[in-house]
Amino acid sequence: MNGSLDRDLELERRLQEALGPGFVLERAIGQGGFALVYAARDVGLNRAVAVKVLRPELAGTAAIRERFRREAEAMARLRHPHVIPVYAVGEGAGLAWYVMPLVTGGSLRTRLDRERRLPAGEARRILDEAAAALGAAHRAGVLHRDIKPDNILLDGDDARVLLTDFGIAKALGGAAPAGALTATGVVVGTPHYMSPEQASGERGIDHRSDLYSLGVVAYQMLCGDLPFQANNTPALLVKHLSEAPVPIERRSGNVPADLARAVMLCLEKNPNDRFKSAHALVEALDTGQVPALPATRARAARPMARARAGSERTKAMAAARARGSRGGTSRPALPSLPTTSGRAPAALAMTGRPQAMASLAGKPKPSKKEGESSEAGEGKSS
Ligand SMILES: Nc1ncnc2c1ncn2[C@@H]1O[C@H](COP(=O)(O)OP(=O)(O)O)[C@@H](O)[C@H]1O
Ligand SMILES: [Mg+2]
Repeated sequence: MNGSLDRDLELERRLQEALGPGFVLERAIGQGGFALVYAARDVGLNRAVAVKVLRPELAGTAAIRERFRREAEAMARLRHPHVIPVYAVGEGAGLAWYVMPLVTGGSLRTRLDRERRLPAGEARRILDEAAAALGAAHRAGVLHRDIKPDNILLDGDDARVLLTDFGIAKALGGAAPAGALTATGVVVGTPHYMSPEQASGERGIDHRSDLYSLGVVAYQMLCGDLPFQANNTPALLVKHLSEAPVPIERRSGNVPADLARAVMLCLEKNPNDRFKSAHALVEALDTGQVPALPATRARAARPMARARAGSERTKAMAAARARGSRGGTSRPALPSLPTTSGRAPAALAMTGRPQAMASLAGKPKPSKKEGESSEAGEGKSS
């Protein structure tokens, strides 16, 4: 499947010995930061399986072995059509492994490497299935914390999603042991898919962090590129923390508005602005009823503010005119009035109302307003 895999014949020999005659190792098929994955045959049941074995250099660390065992347990407990099942788990000969079905379609990573961008319908299906899997994990109290295309496997001819690699998953609320594990120096998450709260090292991240990472994956499927790129990790993390992603419709045509909006909603910086749950995302994708983006909501609320600003402006301008006309009379001006004359716009500027300023400068924004209202309308009707 991948020609660039490191072959470790000694490891293969030890693993085969540890597995015993019930499984026959066939070939290396994948590797990640923690583990190597092999295709094998389950002799008793005569079926193809995959064996994931913890990298031997890591297997000596009890905390990492514990983390690996917990990964297998978490996945085995989930029992969801889009979470890869675990058939067996084992330890021996200084190795730790678990057995799962062999997924034939590769990962979403290999698919994106090949096709770069997926048709919107296919991207929607993959997002939907992955979100359903996440929803099940979250309901079971498990965060994934490493959602990325490598960990989304595509099975069979219909490329059914099987979410895998709950390697840095931790039980929701079980902060102490997971904190201890991550304190071993293991890097948690992948910077390109990391949520702002993960990037800033917040301790209390929750399920909405997974939704952000899934949003990054979906953005990549639809646009062919990640929302943020940078030459180094700190610069990348800063972008996740503070830069707004380019709207999907500007990077890719033919993406239905509801799908684009659902993905952009996942990418909101503030977890409170995202979907409440993975389940809510699934529902939105299935019904097309996707809430408006916070920025749109704010803009939709602004006509009120504009009206307020308008009436204030009218008053201010009337006052300015009144002062001006009085100042223009031959009568001696009262000391206070001429000094305030002509300062109304500056005073508005000081109060930080750019719109009032723009209006005063004769720059209404009708085109944007039209865009906003149609977008907001779509949000309600679609
Ligand atoms: N059941 C499987 N069937 C086929 N390939 C798999 C399977 N599990 C993992 N892989 C491949 O191996 C890679 C690494 O597996 P993963 O569980 O993500 O390990 P790590 O924890 O080291 O990241 C995956 O990205 C995928 O390409
Ligand atoms: Mg992985």
